[in-house]
Amino acid sequence: MIQQRVLAVLSASLALSACGAGLGKVAGTPASAPGEVDPAQAEASRRNPFLGAGFFLDPEQVAKIEAAAQAAPSDAMVIRKVKQYPIGLWLDSIAKVAVIPKWLNLAKKQQQASGQPTLSVFVVYDMPNRDCASKSSGGELKVSQDGATRYRTAFIDPIAAHFAAHPELPIVVILEPDSLANLVTNLNLPTCQEARAVYVDSVVYAIQKLGLPNVSIYLDAAHAGWLGWDGHRETFAKLCKKVLKAAGGVDTIRGFATNVSNYTHLYNRDGAAMESSDPCYNELVYVKKLAVSLADHGIRNKGFIIDTARNGKGQIRKVWGNWCNIKGAGLGERPRAAPGPFVDAYFWIKVPGESDGTSDPSQPRFDPDCASAESATGAPQAGTWFQSYFLDLVRNATPPL
Ligand code: BGC
Repeated sequence: MIQQRVLAVLSASLALSACGAGLGKVAGTPASAPGEVDPAQAEASRRNPFLGAGFFLDPEQVAKIEAAAQAAPSDAMVIRKVKQYPIGLWLDSIAKVAVIPKWLNLAKKQQQASGQPTLSVFVVYDMPNRDCASKSSGGELKVSQDGATRYRTAFIDPIAAHFAAHPELPIVVILEPDSLANLVTNLNLPTCQEARAVYVDSVVYAIQKLGLPNVSIYLDAAHAGWLGWDGHRETFAKLCKKVLKAAGGVDTIRGFATNVSNYTHLYNRDGAAMESSDPCYNELVYVKKLAVSLADHGIRNKGFIIDTARNGKGQIRKVWGNWCNIKGAGLGERPRAAPGPFVDAYFWIKVPGESDGTSDPSQPRFDPDCASAESATGAPQAGTWFQSYFLDLVRNATPPL
């Protein structure tokens, strides 16, 4: 995923015309009628769900890290330290939904054993025409084949049922990375244009169905190098306002997730060197300015999650638009609650060790961005284990492990 195409000014005007797209009533049974938010959900939207919580640890990821340690004996000790940190649980296909009961049962056991709320962070990522501006993370659902209906009935509805079965567990949902951002800057591409109304309707539907009292929803808000420009933030905020109005109001979500699967540094000035016209030269500046843009449109007091899985080291790119398996990256700040103003949490949303996309032009889903001069070579398909890249992330971790 994460194509950004810094087409800044050019595409902003196109995006403006998209704002009203497809905001009609969504089929299915919303949790609450538009305009009415469940009071318990509204209350949940005012709390930072990360505060006071322990994190669910996925045993499969722990096993992958152990295998990585055994395959790299000289780094094994430091690699094993990574096991203690939580990651995003990616629901990137309909088939993956079947794993949720296992994860939540394990989370429940962990919660009972520790006596502390145990938080699971899910990434809901199976939009029709997914990754519409790129190829590497193209998904299984297509707008042209009524993927919108399948998205609701075979993906969102069962996820909602699994979450509803565990009202005792706190859950965070990061909703559809890249989707709304693609409507801000990439409507010049036919696959994004085709998806315009479906993206909006699907996000609205997902908010309505997944908005349970134990679930805190964060909409994806790209990153500083994608939506940092004033015009983009403004267009994005307007789009969010319309989406949230259709979903039942600004209290239907807790906040926004940024930098998902990207590399933008938290606090240095890398952005100023790469894109001097972008006022958001790092991710913390972006979050601060985005909060103001959103507030201008009535979306106030939102919390942000910043993906720090791979943004520990600065000065690893010259081209901000490069997004695929960037060489020299290191693990960033460790997942933790409330590290600073506006920020609910730093969290490792992208799974450290998983590829962004294949670098082999002969493979399906090959995207030329994954063979850029700044991308690591030998990369496998998106979402699969990339051992040499994982080792680099560990060795370059900043702060060190
Ligand atoms: C891939 C997903 C994967 C996720 C986390 C995305 O780029 O498309 O399949 O689950 O990254 O690694």
